[in-house]
Amino acid sequence: MAHIRIVYGTTGGNTQIVCQKVAADLEERGHTVLVERCELTDPQKITDCDCLILASPTYGHGLLEMHFAKFLPQIEHMNLKKLPCAVIALGDPKYDLDYFLESEKKLTHYFQSHNGKILLDPLKIAKSPLPYLEKKVVKWVEKLDQKLTAL
Ligand SMILES: Cc1cc2nc3c(=O)[nH]c(=O)nc-3n(C[C@H](O)[C@H](O)[C@H](O)COP(=O)(O)O)c2cc1C
Repeated sequence: MAHIRIVYGTTGGNTQIVCQKVAADLEERGHTVLVERCELTDPQKITDCDCLILASPTYGHGLLEMHFAKFLPQIEHMNLKKLPCAVIALGDPKYDLDYFLESEKKLTHYFQSHNGKILLDPLKIAKSPLPYLEKKVVKWVEKLDQKLTAL
């Protein structure tokens, strides 16, 4: 069973809801999970895990959430050394269709350019997360669990 660290940024709370649901489902499957707001995380410790999940919504025409945007430079120097990773991204097309779910691209780019090993397609949530918690999120966790088991 894996030790998983989820680091997220949120302004309105949606990303927190998704991350807590992901954590609860992973724990049900026997993993241990640490869920941390990025502004309360020790950046030096993010690699102390078997799998790192980064989660951020998009704000302001394609930017990361404001706390996450401050957090990311603090982990820019890291080499993730093939650490298993996954991305959770939230967005809403009504704000800016050109930058819809742009945080997914930014987080994926972070892992790719820092030698992380992305385990599966990102979990992308559009608009309110509530309708997705019992289907899309559960399915994604199931896939992640399979990937972790296969490591
Ligand atoms: C001012 C503002 C700007 C936003 N800009 C974007 C955007 O450019 N692209 C996008 O996909 N979503 C955008 N969103 C939608 C948020 O990403 C979405 O509401 C998300 O669920 C918020 O997550 P949070 O509650 O965890 O902060 C924006 C929302 C607000 C309030």
